[in-house]
Amino acid sequence: MLAIETSCDETSVAIVRRHMEPQGERLEVLSNVVSSQIDQHAVFGGVVPEVASRAHLDMLEPVLLQALSEAQMSGSELDAVAATHGPGLIGALLIGVSEAKALALAWDVPYVGVNHMEGHLFATFLERPDLEPPLVVLLVSGGHTLIVHLEALGQYRILGSTIDDAAGEAFDKVARYLGLGYPGGPIIDRLALEGDPTAIKFPRGMMNDAFDFSFSGMKTAVINYVRSHPDASDADLAASFQEAVVDVLVTKTMRAADHVGARGVCLGGGVAANSRLRERFGQEAARRNLDALIPDRAFCTDNAAMIGAAALWRLETDGPSGLDGGATPNLKIPVIDTP
Ligand code: KG4
Ligand code: ZN
Repeated sequence: MLAIETSCDETSVAIVRRHMEPQGERLEVLSNVVSSQIDQHAVFGGVVPEVASRAHLDMLEPVLLQALSEAQMSGSELDAVAATHGPGLIGALLIGVSEAKALALAWDVPYVGVNHMEGHLFATFLERPDLEPPLVVLLVSGGHTLIVHLEALGQYRILGSTIDDAAGEAFDKVARYLGLGYPGGPIIDRLALEGDPTAIKFPRGMMNDAFDFSFSGMKTAVINYVRSHPDASDADLAASFQEAVVDVLVTKTMRAADHVGARGVCLGGGVAANSRLRERFGQEAARRNLDALIPDRAFCTDNAAMIGAAALWRLETDGPSGLDGGATPNLKIPVIDTP
């Protein structure tokens, strides 16, 4: 399966395949090339859709050729082609979808349109295909904050989501306010290492609500604190803010795992690269004897390998997508029920 991801600001192409081993099936990533556009957007303090589309156009062909070369494959050896068809930026999505459909026609193989969020869910199975549902997955990215109950492959229930900003968006906005740069998540993560997470007691938004999140008030609390303490250290602010965000994310995920009787908990999405989140998530899961899957950072942030993993399963379950399908910027995760 050759998979293409162009939903936001990374151009990525991966080649993945299923591999039978005595202990069961394994997903093998033959290549997973990611070209980040962060430098082109950083000067604007956020992703500019038109800049993203142009950069995808420039980079898709070289990234595709590199993915084939690293996998030591030619197009004629591929069995299927997939692309993210939503959610994401419409212009960016259409570049990946059009390329995938063209390749499917040229190579005479099936095309599969993949939901980006389902891709993030499947990232967990890239390393642990043996993982047994029911699972609770915390999906935290620049656009989403979801607690998903994965009852079985393809059967998702959304237990909680954010009522305002996404977790990554909160990191980005706080970093922008502090003048630290873009994207804010990795910068705050690094800076927090030098700060004291107990220095400032920021509020934990909606901590008493079961599974939903609110990050907007936490961001405002940082702004108000800086206004009244102009000399506060950036490192302490970063560490204390990060601690508050991680606290609500981890507490609610574990609460959800208890609630549904999950066997394990998984992390996904760009914010899953956060060191403190990874540490606390692992510790709290271990305390509850839950299997914890914290994917390699390369599979947390946007990448095409996770799209390939979801595509293999979708192709087998639903068959190919029609070549008349387009892209859907606000595509929702396919759920069985929303309580
Ligand atoms: O999943 P992703 O790569 O793209 C989206 O689909 O949004 O997530 C990007 C988000 C950004 O908001 C970025 O600041 C955040 O993930 N992020 C982090 C870290 N690395 C990336 N947030 C906190 N700590 C990190 N180390
Ligand atoms: Zn993403």
